[in-house]
Amino acid sequence: AKSKLWGGRFEANTSKLMDQFNASLPFDINLMQYDIEGSLAHVKMLGRQDILTAAEVKKIIEGLKSVKKDLEAELETDSFDFNEAEDIHSLVEARLTAKIGAVGGKLHTGRSRNDQVAVDLRLYLRDQTEQIMELILSFMQVILDLAEEHIETVMPGYTHLQRAQALTFGHHLLAYYFKLKRDHERFADALKRINVSPLGSGALAGSSFALDRDFTAKELGFSRACENSMDGVSDRDFVLEFLAVASNLMLHLSRLSEEIILWNSKEYSFIELADQYTTGSSIMPQKKNPDLAELVRGKTGRVIGSLNQLMITIKGLPLAYNKDLQEDKEGLFDSVKTVKVILELYPEMLKTMKVKKAKMKEAASSGFLNATELADYLAANNIPFRQAHQIVGEAVLFASKKEKELDQLQQSDWDQILGEYLDVEAEELKAKLSVEAAVNSHSTKGGPAFKESKNIIEKEKEFLAVQ
Ligand code: ARG
Repeated sequence: AKSKLWGGRFEANTSKLMDQFNASLPFDINLMQYDIEGSLAHVKMLGRQDILTAAEVKKIIEGLKSVKKDLEAELETDSFDFNEAEDIHSLVEARLTAKIGAVGGKLHTGRSRNDQVAVDLRLYLRDQTEQIMELILSFMQVILDLAEEHIETVMPGYTHLQRAQALTFGHHLLAYYFKLKRDHERFADALKRINVSPLGSGALAGSSFALDRDFTAKELGFSRACENSMDGVSDRDFVLEFLAVASNLMLHLSRLSEEIILWNSKEYSFIELADQYTTGSSIMPQKKNPDLAELVRGKTGRVIGSLNQLMITIKGLPLAYNKDLQEDKEGLFDSVKTVKVILELYPEMLKTMKVKKAKMKEAASSGFLNATELADYLAANNIPFRQAHQIVGEAVLFASKKEKELDQLQQSDWDQILGEYLDVEAEELKAKLSVEAAVNSHSTKGGPAFKESKNIIEKEKEFLAVQ
């Protein structure tokens, strides 16, 4: 039992299987650099408070830096033994003591692994959140550029997956731009609550040493030290919040993926994904499958799963620390990895896909997407909208029986349909009912009219430029 940090009160060793079950090193090795960063701040503070001598502090700091170098090298060369210790905290302390002798054991003065692991996780998540926010901004830029390229690319808009009204591909892409913009904001907001220091909370009740919690908080770049030691070691809201925000981001990417998959199908043929981001079939030679988009849709379940798992883990936990909390890490690490690789790949897939403008326009030109346009026209000519709706419904029925679109009807057709309500010029109507005219008449703020999209894109370019 002597080999454990806590071996003193034990007569027998833990069983081998128990050791394996209990260990977190295989995954909390991800926290290594943050664990050492936290220890460096802690030991500096111990020196400033005259709890350790300047010579001891110097020795420990040099030792920690050297331990970090060793571990980085071992991880780099795949020579690291993941069974070497119980967790990252025990590992670093054991390595330190092996290097500088018993004085290494003074590092843990006034500290518990409970506040230590909470610090590590917050430092890790702050770093990762900042990286993810950068990736989201680059993604937003790619979408904005693509939207600009397609301000005038008309396509059908859908409700109930039925052709509804004409709009543009640029307008459709902008919808996702703004979803991502909110995700970016949500991560920034979560960061405020991630960036708080629990160091100095001890096991749960603070410490009898005169720890300067404000100093370590400042040293580690936290905005402040947390206000309650029990909260400091038991709070995992910051992980839950991150996972909730990440899940929301994944939901957005999953919806986009669903559309990409549909658009890439023969049935739609609106886009064609590049070879680099598709795969083939082992049996059907003609296949080119949208695997990246499908995997993003699939992995969304995985990130939401991690959020669920942690909520369920925390639900019944009494204060303060319980070993259950060790289960906060694997789902989080997995989600971070998943989100980052997707944010790297997705913009590439969008940049390389072929947009089939003619197909989009063709789809927008059939299926009576301009029926609302005609109803609006009648309503603008003093026919109550409800009645106009009825009249246009009959016009649609009339045209579909003739296998024609509304803008293909002749003067005699219009006289027959509208004659008792309004005199209309077939030519004038035809112009009004064209796809472009229909889109451009929708010039309300945030609408798909070319000019409106241009305005919005200019504004957002300015926003991205100052991020
Ligand atoms: N590996 C532990 C975790 O991830 C570190 C904290 C251990 N604390 C303790 N009292 N056993 O939560």
